[in-house]
Amino acid sequence: MSYNLLKGKRGIIFGALDENSIAWKTAERVHEEGGTFVLTNAPIAMRMGQINQLAEKTGSQIIPADATNLEDLENLVDKATEILGGKLDFVLHSIGMSVNVRKGKAYTDQNYDWTHKGWDVSAVSFHKTMQTLYKKDAMNEWGSIVALTYMAAQRVFPDYNDMADNKAYLESIARSFGYFFGKDKKVRVNTISQSPTPTTAGQGVKGFDGFIAYAEKMSPLGNATAIDCANYTVTLFSDLTKRVTLQNLFNDGGFSNMGVSNEVIDYFTEE
Ligand SMILES: NC(=O)c1ccc[n+]([C@@H]2O[C@H](COP(=O)([O-])OP(=O)(O)OC[C@H]3O[C@@H](n4cnc5c(N)ncnc54)[C@H](O)[C@@H]3O)[C@@H](O)[C@H]2O)c1
Repeated sequence: MSYNLLKGKRGIIFGALDENSIAWKTAERVHEEGGTFVLTNAPIAMRMGQINQLAEKTGSQIIPADATNLEDLENLVDKATEILGGKLDFVLHSIGMSVNVRKGKAYTDQNYDWTHKGWDVSAVSFHKTMQTLYKKDAMNEWGSIVALTYMAAQRVFPDYNDMADNKAYLESIARSFGYFFGKDKKVRVNTISQSPTPTTAGQGVKGFDGFIAYAEKMSPLGNATAIDCANYTVTLFSDLTKRVTLQNLFNDGGFSNMGVSNEVIDYFTEE
């Protein structure tokens, strides 16, 4: 169903890798709601080729950019405003990666070069993106910037490893930069804290199957899907949420406020 919530709005969507990606679903929904956008991903992700299908389907152009590289980001913002014919109304940062997680290094045995790479890709890239948009004055007033995060920023999930710290950093950047973007440009900045979701990044976390099944049983509404996340993001890009800013918003079926559920109690209760 379409409500035309994003008619006439323009933006950039980072992080669509394949059809499971949250950014992929978001691009499809934004397109359905009348928004136009440029797709971007790291050059290495491009080579896998799937993003071309999404571009075709949504009538979008793709501009490769490593989100840790300022020159790439500057080129991206310049080209995107040129292609779309004006300043931007929305930006989705849907990027996360930990080399320690990927290579199976425990939290208690970090390779700090990898730790550094992980926070650059997962958190500082959000600052770099916003700083580029800010300096180029590339956002329209009442525009909206969203990044995706996970509750391991607030609570302990041991196998989430250094991504927990990266997400805490990301959420803090959203608040800190959100202040300046709000004051100086009337742009809102929020993070969505999403349920575990079966994507390439999600499935890279050790014990993901147990993790997602547990969250499903703990949440009164069940886990939020990638499509749920896409829909929530559409509302944050729309004019219906104009004064929501500096927030970390949970899209998690209620998980974050649960202590225990009857399903989980039943599992541990001997008959
Ligand atoms: N899947 C989950 O369980 C879950 C839960 C909460 C939050 N999130 C967050 O959602 C976001 C999207 O992840 P996803 O689950 O859709 O997985 P995904 O693997 O589909 O997307 C991650 C994206 O990050 C991109 N990326 C990595 N390094 C990059 C770089 N240097 N420059 C530009 N792009 C780069 C990848 O190419 C990929 O497209 C991430 O921030 C992730 O942490 C995911």
